[in-house]
Amino acid sequence: MDKVIDFINVNRERYLDELKALLAIPSISALPEHAEDVKRCATWCADEMRRIGLNNVRLIDTPGYPVVYGEWLGAPGAPTLLFYGHYDVQPVDPLELWESPPFEATIRDGEMYARGSADDKGQVFMHLKAVEAYLKQGGRLPVNIKFILEGEEEVGSAHLDDFVRAHKSELKADVVVISDSEMFERGVPSICYGLRGLVYCQIDLRGSKTDLHSGSFGGAVANPAFVLAQMIAQMKDRGGRIRIPGFYDDVRPLEDAEREAWAKLPFNEKKYRKDFGIPKLFGESGYSTLERTWARPTLEVNGLLSGFTGDGAKTVLPAVAMAKISMRLVPNQEPNKIADLFEAFVRKIAPKTVDLTITRMHGGKPWMASFDNPFVQAAERAIERGFGRAPVFTREGGSIPVVSTFQEELGLPSVLFGVGLPDENAHAPNEKLDVSNFHNGIIASAYLYGEMARISVPA
Ligand code: BES
Ligand code: ZN
Repeated sequence: MDKVIDFINVNRERYLDELKALLAIPSISALPEHAEDVKRCATWCADEMRRIGLNNVRLIDTPGYPVVYGEWLGAPGAPTLLFYGHYDVQPVDPLELWESPPFEATIRDGEMYARGSADDKGQVFMHLKAVEAYLKQGGRLPVNIKFILEGEEEVGSAHLDDFVRAHKSELKADVVVISDSEMFERGVPSICYGLRGLVYCQIDLRGSKTDLHSGSFGGAVANPAFVLAQMIAQMKDRGGRIRIPGFYDDVRPLEDAEREAWAKLPFNEKKYRKDFGIPKLFGESGYSTLERTWARPTLEVNGLLSGFTGDGAKTVLPAVAMAKISMRLVPNQEPNKIADLFEAFVRKIAPKTVDLTITRMHGGKPWMASFDNPFVQAAERAIERGFGRAPVFTREGGSIPVVSTFQEELGLPSVLFGVGLPDENAHAPNEKLDVSNFHNGIIASAYLYGEMARISVPA
């Protein structure tokens, strides 16, 4: 083990240089003009897996972007880990707000700035480098490991459920390991035991064939921008509660023990507000900030578009208005059921003055695990050794749709050990990854395999 850790320490700079090469590929899954880049990134990951000594490495086609697969199965009798991560990234707009180009990774003040540094390339790379250290140093790993890297996570993982179902026997394992989440805060590592689910819809309203002169027509024709604003305003009450009938029916209430444990976490609301420039917090009444983001469902407008938005003034009555709306779900809400309820509600509140189209985009189920599991306890020990402090247990507000699929289709628990930080600008300009968390994360990953190797599993 010491030799593995030494190898990681000695190769610290090289690992950073290689990560920069991975971060240079603009693998933006949401934008069709980057399709070749996404595929190039898959090939880069496969080449890297071969370089570090994984076997049976290949790209497995899906109707969308390929899954990159690689394995090392030379530890008979030891547990098999299924590692999941994603090589796609979010779009970079607004580009002008980046202080250095998003695909030229730059280290400033101990942070590596680049799109995908934290979410999720840096965290995936951490595990590849821990595996490399074992394989280059002693020629073997203490556990068996299968890697699957997805190229469509940031657009809802549309093809991954089918992929998992179609490859059940190849994906056979004892536990799933994922690093695509956050630490609680700088210096406070965490294990995440719950994720929210998601339903994402687009609403389009049309009020006329083309834009109209707002002088000639204003007053006689409903303005779709106005109608849309009025509809959105009906979706929540002033206390932040969602007004869709039935929306809360399946929400599992927070347990007292969870509320008590979270109240003890070192969460500083004032700092949170200041860090993100929020004048005053707002959320469902009766819940703390952590409870609101980890254990309560939400409905948010992700985008809104209508009419003239350029410089100056233009007197126009827009023909159309559009909103992108998503709902984060918690156990035991079902994405399809919630999408049905949302659609029925929107149809009911839409006036006859506009034509309405609702498009369902993507979704994913919420997930929650018990941490009474030897693999979680192994992760606890490994993280403590890598970061010098025992992890806290958190839930997260974000979503990783496949986690519940691993549970349902493969019967596998997942251990989520993330090293991103809440202020690392995931999905925003100036995404970054703390370089020492990356390094400690490699060490923790190496310990993780060692700790998990000691768990006895059914033959
Ligand atoms: N890494 C995130 C998920 C995440 C965010 C976990 C914050 C923990 C804390 C992931 O890459 C992501 O952004 N997922 C999307 C999924 C969606 C497109 C279905 C999300 O949550 O918006
Ligand atoms: Zn993301």
